[in-house]
Amino acid sequence: MRLTESIALGFLPFAIASPAPVIKPAVLRSTGLNSWAPHNAHNGYAPVNVTCPINRPSIRGAASISPEEKSWLEKRHEKTNSGLKQFFSHVEIDDFDALSYVESHEEDTTDLPIIGFAISGGGLAAALNGAGAFKAFDSRTEGTLGKGQLGGLLQSTTYFSALSGGSWFLGSIYINNLTSVTALQEGFWDFSSENFFSGPTSMTTTEFWGNLTTQIHAKKDAGFSVSDPDIWGRMQGYYFFNASDGGVDITWSSIAKNKGFQEADLPLPLVVLDGQSFADVESDPTISEPIYEVTPWEFGTYDNSIYGFAPLEYLGTRFVGGKVPDNETCVHGFDNAGFITGTSSDIWNEDGDDIIAILEYEMSLLSPNTTSGAEEIEGIEYVMKEVIYALNSTNATLVGASAFDPNPFYQYNPETSPFAQDKRLTLVDGGEDGQNVPFNPLIQRKRNVDVIFAVDSARTTGNLWPNGTTLVDAYERSLVDLANDTSFPSVPDVNTFLNLGLNAGPSFFGCNASNLTVPAPLVVYLPNHPITYMSNVTELQTHYNATARDDMITNGFNVATQANGTLDSAWTTCVGCAVLSRSFDRTKTQVPEACTRCFERYCWNGTIDSHTPAPYEPSIIL
Ligand SMILES: *[C@@H]1O[C@H](CO)[C@@H](O)[C@H](O)[C@H]1NC(C)=O
Ligand SMILES: *[C@@H]1O[C@H](CO)[C@@H](O)[C@H](O)[C@H]1NC(C)=O
Ligand SMILES: *[C@@H]1O[C@H](CO)[C@@H](O)[C@H](O)[C@H]1NC(C)=O
Ligand SMILES: *[C@@H]1O[C@H](CO)[C@@H](O)[C@H](O)[C@H]1NC(C)=O
Ligand SMILES: *[C@@H]1O[C@H](CO)[C@@H](O)[C@H](O)[C@H]1NC(C)=O
Ligand SMILES: *[C@@H]1O[C@H](CO)[C@@H](O)[C@H](O)[C@H]1NC(C)=O
Ligand SMILES: *[C@@H]1O[C@H](CO)[C@@H](O)[C@H](O)[C@H]1NC(C)=O
Ligand SMILES: *[C@@H]1O[C@H](CO)[C@@H](O)[C@H](O)[C@H]1NC(C)=O
Ligand SMILES: *[C@@H]1O[C@H](CO)[C@@H](O)[C@H](O)[C@H]1NC(C)=O
Repeated sequence: MRLTESIALGFLPFAIASPAPVIKPAVLRSTGLNSWAPHNAHNGYAPVNVTCPINRPSIRGAASISPEEKSWLEKRHEKTNSGLKQFFSHVEIDDFDALSYVESHEEDTTDLPIIGFAISGGGLAAALNGAGAFKAFDSRTEGTLGKGQLGGLLQSTTYFSALSGGSWFLGSIYINNLTSVTALQEGFWDFSSENFFSGPTSMTTTEFWGNLTTQIHAKKDAGFSVSDPDIWGRMQGYYFFNASDGGVDITWSSIAKNKGFQEADLPLPLVVLDGQSFADVESDPTISEPIYEVTPWEFGTYDNSIYGFAPLEYLGTRFVGGKVPDNETCVHGFDNAGFITGTSSDIWNEDGDDIIAILEYEMSLLSPNTTSGAEEIEGIEYVMKEVIYALNSTNATLVGASAFDPNPFYQYNPETSPFAQDKRLTLVDGGEDGQNVPFNPLIQRKRNVDVIFAVDSARTTGNLWPNGTTLVDAYERSLVDLANDTSFPSVPDVNTFLNLGLNAGPSFFGCNASNLTVPAPLVVYLPNHPITYMSNVTELQTHYNATARDDMITNGFNVATQANGTLDSAWTTCVGCAVLSRSFDRTKTQVPEACTRCFERYCWNGTIDSHTPAPYEPSIIL
């Protein structure tokens, strides 16, 4: 029997323990804490109708990057030139003056490299591991301009993509005024509560769920469908967005209004989401489902099928055939920041209910005297589903996927888009297609990325280490006719990854540009491996005390720097060589001897060894 809405909302499992459930109404106003961030100031979590501007918003075709990106890149280009000079002021290549090389080529806008940085999904563990690499590359981190360090690489980077758990980290930086990892560790990130479901330490669980349900109600009352990332994303807000009420009214498009972002102080943030046909919502997306990206300005895909982008700020508006009909009004506030990260990490459709698995896992870790665990799990599961069912008028399941309702691509490109007749677009976790490192935005040839630093925290071996699957999936997708303007270097099969140890430490792919039929980036693969900490923590874990949190981040830092050069004193040189490799080709510069040695050591040379590998069981290296 389906409970009525009011019963469902009153049936918070925590009421069992507490006297009467006190549901604190969410404070639906902006307190101006993030005064730079234009909140959806009118109405808290609920999207609102606004008068359309005179130039009514429309869907643009995907034949080029957006005009906003184009003009932003001009500014970023100046910053990355300075970044490269900062980087090569301390990273040396023997018998080659890299700093002078950069200085002598900075006038020509196409000579110097365009760098991409991508961090994978894999729950909070992936967010922390990705944060470690980001911290190592960020010259704002103390000590990163010294020997064996890589500070300035982030300042030299143009694009930063993330998905799923990785998007929680990306959001932590960009939604919090372009803060740093050190600042997050010292002043905000707190994962010490029991789990994500019990709410942050600053409030009771009852209060937490009271806030969530009130907030989500507001969206429903405004006439919008709600789906699981509304709940999941609102939960994340309290852990990752340093603002009142978990950033209830902060939109993703507000990043574009941030001064530091407008000054192009950090790379362009790109979040990946996967499409999924509604009929198949219980399965993982097939290779042909769209891969979407969210920039601070737009949501859409370069895939041949939809091949269009919607203005992010106006998501929630009823577009028909790419236009807003005269009788329709415009909508603001649909692109709530948590809704974006919540969709990118929406694994509710996988294996039954994976988010419930997170809860079960966390409950299993609790001390034995919390025996109400099982009941609590059932209770929460029940409430989450009931909230969603009760709020939506039909029983057509909205549990299991993200509803982008209305579909901004309704009747758009009907000849090629399988979604042109769908009133609602269905999305799931950005890593569910197997491409768990968000390469897709970085391999669009329109973006001319030369080198991608790929941090992989996938849990694809039996004991939760990455094994290269994500590269194989990215490569395979680049070969089929789904996104015809993408390219990825050749990579071997997964067995070869394990047999040659390509997942046991850094390895480079696509080093030899002459061996490529179409230009593709060089990929610097940085698989998670245990240098100072057993970082193969399950993606289901959402509880870390401050020590464990920092140990995870430091291991990620050590992977990126190869333990500050302890594992290879030439590592920073080799990173510098990877950065400049395509630039050397363009400027017809003789590859320095030191770089040739690096490439011999780190580049996959085409060898295949596909026999069944022994189990991969690394132990802590240092
Ligand atoms: C955001 O960061 C910039 C640069 O660090 C700083 O000047 C500004 O005061 C910050 N804004 C807020 C509201 O914290
Ligand atoms: C979090 O917000 C508080 C209050 O605005 C601010 O003092 C602090 O620096 C912020 N922390 C981070 C990591 O942004
Ligand atoms: C690439 O995709 C676009 C958009 O779907 C299409 O117009 C074009 O014909 C495609 N080109 C090739 C070579 O497939
Ligand atoms: C690079 O690839 C080209 C074309 O396949 C090949 O002729 C050349 O030997 C390769 N260079 C190296 C260093 O492997
Ligand atoms: C922090 O967590 C780690 C790993 O779960 C555990 O070994 C350690 O004892 C904890 N430390 C504290 C102070 O609770
Ligand atoms: C490398 O340097 C960082 C930053 O100083 C430090 O946290 C880390 O422990 C160092 N790694 C090793 C293996 O000493
Ligand atoms: C290529 O790599 C394999 C294994 O990593 C190695 O055994 C082989 O000698 C290398 N071949 C060349 C030509 O360098
Ligand atoms: C060179 O290109 C061929 C053909 O695409 C491919 O099979 C081979 O693996 C590539 N070699 C390397 C080292 O990437
Ligand atoms: C982590 O990996 C080690 C081997 O490298 C393995 O013994 C351990 O069970 C793994 N941990 C988890 C949680 O799977």
